[in-house]
Amino acid sequence: MSLLDEIRKPVLKEMDEFESYFNRTMKSDVPLLKIVLNYILRRKGKQMRPLLVFLTAKLNGKISEPTYVAATLIELLHTASLVHDDIVDDAHERRGALSVNALWNSKIAVLAGDYMLSAGLLISVEKSRYDMLEIVSESVQSMAEGELLQIQKARKLNIKEEDYYKIIISKTAALLSACTATGARSVTEDPDTIQLMKDFGENIGIAFQIRDDILDYESNGLTGKTVGNDIKERKITLPLIHSLELASMPQKRKILSIVKSRKKTRGEINEVIKFVSSTGGLEYAEIKMNQYRDKALAILDSYPASDVKESLQQFVNYTTSRNK
Ligand code: IPE
Ligand code: IPE
Ligand code: MG
Ligand code: MG
Repeated sequence: MSLLDEIRKPVLKEMDEFESYFNRTMKSDVPLLKIVLNYILRRKGKQMRPLLVFLTAKLNGKISEPTYVAATLIELLHTASLVHDDIVDDAHERRGALSVNALWNSKIAVLAGDYMLSAGLLISVEKSRYDMLEIVSESVQSMAEGELLQIQKARKLNIKEEDYYKIIISKTAALLSACTATGARSVTEDPDTIQLMKDFGENIGIAFQIRDDILDYESNGLTGKTVGNDIKERKITLPLIHSLELASMPQKRKILSIVKSRKKTRGEINEVIKFVSSTGGLEYAEIKMNQYRDKALAILDSYPASDVKESLQQFVNYTTSRNK
């Protein structure tokens, strides 16, 4: 049994029901859209976000319909954002298969993403859960801002560690904190609890994205994404930021000229990967990641022992140790 299966145990029934709920929303009568949506559905991801919604809800109260609304809304928006992200990043692989933009084209990927996004919005309106819609819409807006800030920084290659955190808080941690905030909101109205859970999700989210960025340097063959795609797209993430800070001027110039060039060979990308792994960039990113992991774990300490609490602790640890 995988670690994620273990973590899912306290909300197994809910995750099952979520899945049929989710699948029902991914429907259309337009043949082309139907094919695209089915293609996406057949390659489901780790579903960490709905899992986090259910676990957080159960930690704070009793799971009910709004919890399902939140989980479905969030997974739809997440899936839409990946379809769009692969256009932005010119990425051809996702979940171990061709990305939608690679298999069809960018036009189809933009529209399929829009369709999923609006399917998510509709659910919360249909169920009159404007509170969920508000929390999640804020995070979607933040995602777009984060992606744009990233593009802006990639143009000039002048990203500092501080900018990096700003980017990942917006593009990734905002949605994970929406998971924990909506999970809590679905079972309580207490603002302190909701805020505490929001902070919990934000710390998980920061650690989650640092792990994702480390994985871009490690060719483990499990991520279902192309290694080195961040470098190809001039994305300077934490490992590289740190290694560049320590590098000599000529070394720095050499690496940046590779990152900057529009057409990079595999050999050049590998050179950057080697530079980062031989100068401590990955270890540094890991230390930082673990600091956020520990902040998230510390928040859980205030809760009494339970199987749900234990699952959430494992969830946090999985976030930072995952290989896919
Ligand atoms: C990928 O998220 C996007 C990031 C924020 C790094 P996941 O790794 O959760 O993607 P899936 O849903 O499991 O494919
Ligand atoms: C995260 O960014 C994706 C979004 C938040 C939309 P990345 O571009 O780093 O994610 P992957 O590595 O493609 O999954
Ligand atoms: Mg990407
Ligand atoms: Mg990435």
